[in-house]
Amino acid sequence: MPSVGKPLPHDSAAGHVTGQALYLDDLRTFDGELHVGFVGSPVASGELFAVDVAPALAVPGVVACYTAADVAGHNVFGLIIADEPFLAEEQLLYLGQPVAVVAAQTRAALEQGRLAVQMEYSETEPLLDLEEAIRSERFLGSRLRIARGDVEGNLASAEHRLAGTFTSGGQEQFYLESQAAIAYPGEEGQLVVHSSTQSPTEIQKVVADVLGLGQHEVVCICKRMGGAFGGKETQAAIPALMVALVAQKTGRPARVIYNKDDDMRVTGKRHEYLTRWGVGFDGEGRIQALRCDFFSNGGASTDLSPAVLERSLLHADSCYYCPHVEFNGRICFTNIPPNTAFRGFGGPQAMVVHENILESIAQLLGRDAYDVRLANLYGVGERNVTPYGQVFDKNHLPEIFATLAARSQYKGRQKEIANFNANSRLQLRGLAMTGVKFGISFTTKFLNQGNALVNVYTDGTVQVSTGATEMGQGVNIKIRQLVADEFALDPSCVVMMPTSTEKNNNTSPTAASSSTDINGAAAVRACQKIKRRLAEFAAERLADTEAGLQASPRQIDFVDGQVIDSRRPQVKVPFAQLCSDARRQRVDLGARGFFATPGVDFNRETGRGTPFFYYTQGAAVAEVLVDRFTGQLRIPRVDLLIDIGQSINPGVDRGQIIGGFIQGMGWVTTEALVYGERGELLSYSPTTYKIPVITDVPTEFHVATFDSTDNVQNIRRSKAVGEPPLMMGISVWAAVKNALSYVQPNRCVELSLPATGEEILRCLTELSQVREQSESTMRVE
Ligand code: MTE
Ligand code: HPA
Ligand code: MOS
Repeated sequence: MPSVGKPLPHDSAAGHVTGQALYLDDLRTFDGELHVGFVGSPVASGELFAVDVAPALAVPGVVACYTAADVAGHNVFGLIIADEPFLAEEQLLYLGQPVAVVAAQTRAALEQGRLAVQMEYSETEPLLDLEEAIRSERFLGSRLRIARGDVEGNLASAEHRLAGTFTSGGQEQFYLESQAAIAYPGEEGQLVVHSSTQSPTEIQKVVADVLGLGQHEVVCICKRMGGAFGGKETQAAIPALMVALVAQKTGRPARVIYNKDDDMRVTGKRHEYLTRWGVGFDGEGRIQALRCDFFSNGGASTDLSPAVLERSLLHADSCYYCPHVEFNGRICFTNIPPNTAFRGFGGPQAMVVHENILESIAQLLGRDAYDVRLANLYGVGERNVTPYGQVFDKNHLPEIFATLAARSQYKGRQKEIANFNANSRLQLRGLAMTGVKFGISFTTKFLNQGNALVNVYTDGTVQVSTGATEMGQGVNIKIRQLVADEFALDPSCVVMMPTSTEKNNNTSPTAASSSTDINGAAAVRACQKIKRRLAEFAAERLADTEAGLQASPRQIDFVDGQVIDSRRPQVKVPFAQLCSDARRQRVDLGARGFFATPGVDFNRETGRGTPFFYYTQGAAVAEVLVDRFTGQLRIPRVDLLIDIGQSINPGVDRGQIIGGFIQGMGWVTTEALVYGERGELLSYSPTTYKIPVITDVPTEFHVATFDSTDNVQNIRRSKAVGEPPLMMGISVWAAVKNALSYVQPNRCVELSLPATGEEILRCLTELSQVREQSESTMRVE
């Protein structure tokens, strides 16, 4: 019985609720294991003159204390540009930046040791403000650009013009398992590192490079993560380096587990963005020319910022065609931890700019924003070429928009809301539909590859290893289903093994929503190799030359745990029996599969190409209720419709859709990163940093998938689901903007993101002041 398409439980669903699924800190302590922690920079910006570790070493129980001077290899690393120090050298770049690593026999000794380390340093004025960074041109890397047509000319000739500046705040990944790593020494200087990482290969490489080892001397293992959301694509490196350094130097096992507060304070997050935009459009709201200058807050080192910004430029069109476009991007240096990947990877920051522009156009023209969106939506067969030249074929958005508008009774409710708002002095309602067209593939071409190792045993059971890491998103159960179906086995016969660089080399991070696409396809290829060998063996065995049936491997089928010759299906061999016999005949029952996404290519220099294998598409309608006196926000109803092709696991995918949407909703409403003047993060724990909770789930919540079968190029006609739903959360922000538009008709509301209670109240106050002024002067424009 095929298992693909069935909502099988997540591979550790039972383990998660019973506590049997182990996370790093659940692993039993090793003999002689050391507790590891770090001492962070006391200032956001300054110079480090000296570190005195002697007082720390004098603390009983403290075994070691290391600084940059103790690093045997390169102390600087970075995936795109190697500009991030592992331990601070002369420059202090952000508050809490690791300066020294302390290892101790007990947690208490570790805490005492950390306090005892002495530093000599100077403090300089930190650069914290994005606008200040732009003014002083403190940029990381070079400018990115994607452009088409004549923007200046068409801005000038357009019937209407609008311009503005849009800001969106950063976001903490808020994985429940903090950054964590364990390392222990092997023989001859080798190291094993267990890391809560999305990228074991990256950890292996960085550890080898920083510690002066060959990659062959380091093994990195990741069984699972307690969430990552992009926050462990690169940021798992520093904790892994800390324990690797201690293990290398002391010859003892070492463990670091960040506490939540430290984790929030010292690790990178979603980039804050400031975008200057200008748009020209006609009386229908159809955009003729669009220009956006994106400035991202990169923090103190490059990290993944260029790739994130690149994805922003590739998503600045959102779901809408525009003939004349110019998108520019720059990364700003500031004295905060290096910002990094977060679900959507720069897509959300750019898409929300476009959705904001469409809401503004609608408000200015006094038209319904849905109609303005339809006027701009990518077409089918026409108006379907993206600014970077990729044709957006298999565009389901027109149908998705129409279907969702009908199902959610968008038009009727918008009328009802207008009536309500006209008569309510206490509350405002708002409604908005926004779309998602998310490009699937790493925009860095070479990352679109994966390999898998499949081992079949003589009892007909299977172990599968790939480069994919499980972070809760369900990649394990999906690959298990794919493999089970290849051999026509029950999924219970297949086990997903911990991700390890020993079995899968040179792998890409589990990211860009494409881990099942890539690793699932690689696993299936490995299965097919084994099946070809088994088919040859079975063909001989099931042939009946007397009856004139020659051996024919192509007639061999795998059905329901049996192997048959399709010409005589009543004669069967159980899969297990065949495997056992095959081994006796020295048939190889293991294979490696390799997959490289075909056809993707993007030229950074020209801003042209086909960066994406396909697009995951969807739309969301959100209704909000705003308290006119406090700015408090509630979400009475949300409708989602998303095209994820033929789902491999509808249960897991539904979880991804709902979870992604709610996480996006948190970004646009309540999650505010607040920094103090010294660059200290003030909202560093759940008491002050507000992620959505169960009571924030929309009262009425309709979640549906759009049935499409045309994604033939991808594994089992499925589509990636991990990140796209996050951007459906933008509908909530747009609905707030829509609600505010009722205060003062034909005036654009300058609402920034997140639309917290304070921000909404600020807008309400501003709008009512404008209203009073215009009422008192009775000006007619
Ligand atoms: N879902 C859970 N439960 N936990 C996570 O950390 N990360 C998201 C998404 N869904 C995440 C998640 C991000 S950022 C990505 S890129 C994808 O999962 C990665 O996994 P995939 O490629 O298997 O979709
Ligand atoms: N998405 C996620 N992670 C990445 C990407 C991307 O496009 N490129 C490099 N790392
Ligand atoms: Mo996801 S941001 O690509 O890890």
